[in-house]
Amino acid sequence: MNPILIDFPNPSPLGKNVRTLLKAEDGKVLIRNFPDGETYLRVESQVEGREIIVYASLFQPNDWILNLLFLADALRNHGAKRVGLLATYLAYMRQDKVFHPGEALTSATFAKLLSSSFDYLVTVDPHLHRYHSLNEIYSIPALVVKAAPLISEWIHTHVKNPFIIGPDRESAQWVKEVAGNAPSIVLSKVRHKDGHVKITWLESMDIEGKTPVLVDDIISSGGTMLQAVEHLKEEGFPPPICIAIHPIFAENSYQRLLDAGVQKIATCNSIPHPSNQIDLAHVLVGALKIILE
Ligand code: R5P
Repeated sequence: MNPILIDFPNPSPLGKNVRTLLKAEDGKVLIRNFPDGETYLRVESQVEGREIIVYASLFQPNDWILNLLFLADALRNHGAKRVGLLATYLAYMRQDKVFHPGEALTSATFAKLLSSSFDYLVTVDPHLHRYHSLNEIYSIPALVVKAAPLISEWIHTHVKNPFIIGPDRESAQWVKEVAGNAPSIVLSKVRHKDGHVKITWLESMDIEGKTPVLVDDIISSGGTMLQAVEHLKEEGFPPPICIAIHPIFAENSYQRLLDAGVQKIATCNSIPHPSNQIDLAHVLVGALKIILE
């Protein structure tokens, strides 16, 4: 029997694509609030004995994480065979260390919550900085899908003579893979206490006749990308193309990047955004099939 996919909390283009490719049934859930603000949740699909995939990007999860946990529990209580979480943007990965006394290690607490509610996790390029693997904090099987091959394909289809640039050392892990045969370089970034970012070159670059393509995993405050863009401008390079896997674009950073004169911004659809141009559906379905078969 085909799986049931629940697109949570709202239907999304990526959820629809994944459901179609997987030939999954559209899962129905009713959610409303009691007068006191508490949640009423009812699973309307017949889930007994079925494989259930809950698709939630997990972007800005604070408003609905409790409902997600209620849903997972309800699915289990009503006899679902397995309840998997397809979380294209895995939230709460950045506080991966207690930097100051008294701080909450939110990455670990969040992982504990999800691990206790779901049978497995499929996600896209989680922000692994001090953790080397999700297994360090997630106790359920966690399958990581890599966006680099798709980004590489997009660049080689859409950009003439690309020169791939990673804005910081952390980006080195995917810059090489994204670049393929194209030239690439990784820059050096220092983030000051006030959040201000300073980017410097590690070596000189010759990008005569090439199109600079900045690639990062996340654009959040936009500080990293903006600094890199400004730096390229100061050095007299042509306007770059900016690519990110997870387009958070906090603090109006999408507009600020456009205003900075970038040539184009292209992102993966791990988080719905007008800049989405790189569709993750096929690779996500590939990963889900490995688990389901
Ligand atoms: C850094 O560790 C990441 O790879 C990104 O460069 C960073 O998260 C981007 O954040 P922001 O847009 O706030 O500079």
